[in-house]
Amino acid sequence: MRASLTAIAAELKRLKALGVRTLPVSDASLQQLRAAVGRRTQAGPAVPPAPAAAPAPKAYETPARTYATKPVETGAAPIPEPQPFTLPEGDKATRWAALKAHVTNDPVCRAHVRPGKQVVLGVGSLDARIMFVGEAPGAEEEVQGEPFVGPAGQLLTKMIGAMGLQRADVYIGNIMNWRPEMPLDARGVQFGNRPPTEQELHYCLPYLKAQIEVVNPELLVALGSTAAQGLLGFGTFKALGEVRGRWKEFAGKPLMVTYHPSYILRNQSNRSKRMIWEDLLQVMEHAGLTVSERQRGFFLDRA
Ligand code: URA
Repeated sequence: MRASLTAIAAELKRLKALGVRTLPVSDASLQQLRAAVGRRTQAGPAVPPAPAAAPAPKAYETPARTYATKPVETGAAPIPEPQPFTLPEGDKATRWAALKAHVTNDPVCRAHVRPGKQVVLGVGSLDARIMFVGEAPGAEEEVQGEPFVGPAGQLLTKMIGAMGLQRADVYIGNIMNWRPEMPLDARGVQFGNRPPTEQELHYCLPYLKAQIEVVNPELLVALGSTAAQGLLGFGTFKALGEVRGRWKEFAGKPLMVTYHPSYILRNQSNRSKRMIWEDLLQVMEHAGLTVSERQRGFFLDRA
């Protein structure tokens, strides 16, 4: 048991050195760890008594995504410059299908996707007036091959519902088409996520621009700091608060910058929800959606 705990501690130190700050831990694993620490404590003094057990995290407290704070050296092949490509002539469905085939067969995207996982392109209505732009696929997204299907995605779907729309009414994409690689654990499983590097972004951005060209939405919504940096340029702001809630521009489209839904998963206060909601009210108004009095008042209790 001591060897297992030492191995866990060594792995946590290694991840910390790589910049990983948080890791998802299932309730079951936590219970096993607590049981192990408790057993060891009873058997002898080698392990100090376990601190009072923290309450098991509720599902909504589990970060949807965990990030290294800086790009991580994964040993993956370097990212080349993007190759020029052109969309075919034709209607939106034809052009989108050609883009999807191109991106999912792109050798660079494929080379960076783990075996059995998928390259991810945006989804939604090709006639959408609103296009949401997130960061990169996570664990659930690379399995299902669709953006925003994990916990953050479920919250995004609720936010879209609060706007009086359905997920299928909008278009949802990412600035990056594969799950940014992190070192694998001893079982060969990727644990945690990190933001895309500038090189990865530079490679994938033409594919987002092509989606904007095909769908031709009225406006874009950048979800979170990384998406906003990707669209506005690295280094254009230090804190998201400098740009969030303000209209910017990308690819000739009005761009609203707001928080990533995973921020709300970590900050469940009405104050946080109201901030993101005020940005979405602006989006609704800009897109000519009807805003009811009830919608105007959502999350006004800033507790
Ligand atoms: N977060 C994102 O930014 N994109 C996804 O597709 C999922 C989670």
